[in-house]
Amino acid sequence: MTIIAPSVLSLDYSRFESQIRDLHISKAQWLHFDVMDGHFVPNLTFGPDILKAFRKASHLFMDVHLMVEDPDFFSDVFIDAGADMITFHSEALDDDFHRIMALIKKIKSRGVKAGLTVKPKTPVETLFPYVSEVDLFLIMSVEPGFGGQSFIHQSIEKISALRQLIDQSQSSALIEVDGGINSHTGSLCRQAGANVLVAGSYVFKDDIVAAVESLCQ
Ligand code: DX5
Ligand code: ZN
Repeated sequence: MTIIAPSVLSLDYSRFESQIRDLHISKAQWLHFDVMDGHFVPNLTFGPDILKAFRKASHLFMDVHLMVEDPDFFSDVFIDAGADMITFHSEALDDDFHRIMALIKKIKSRGVKAGLTVKPKTPVETLFPYVSEVDLFLIMSVEPGFGGQSFIHQSIEKISALRQLIDQSQSSALIEVDGGINSHTGSLCRQAGANVLVAGSYVFKDDIVAAVESLCQ
């Protein structure tokens, strides 16, 4: 079954309580939390205290996507704040195998799931060496930094390539897709082998429960 992870980047913070209530009524199982530091991407979002507030208000699985220059430092900060999954960018560690492996191991040693991702222009093959190491691969289907962008269709080939590798390797890694997801692009991703769909602007546009439902089918 597909896991839906609404991105709270697009949540209407003037109506926090009712939006959380709707998320809990909906079939969403995860909340996707986009951490941006103004350096790795040209936007600033949440610090750990905001994650703590979500943790208090919700029982949902907290899926933290770090778009920061120093994922080693911030993984600890967000694990302390209640993250269930930490996904970081290979580029932030200069695609260095040893640094990436060390961070995956550190995250897991703290009892948290570890995910790895690359920006759309970085080849998907960069992720391949970690197929037996990570809990999740995140395919970015927009340039990270902002919600509301259009889905990059080449992402479908990346999902298929990863799906093939995961199945051949008998790995249990999940494939998550993030950016420009709606009922149409979500269904393409599911068919290509994705397990987790992140959606921001589509889910929070109007009827949260109906939007999440439409992504499950
Ligand atoms: C982009 C973020 C996404 C964003 C997706 O940098 O990683 O999670 O919230 O937003 P939509 O679904 O609006 O493309
Ligand atoms: Zn994200």
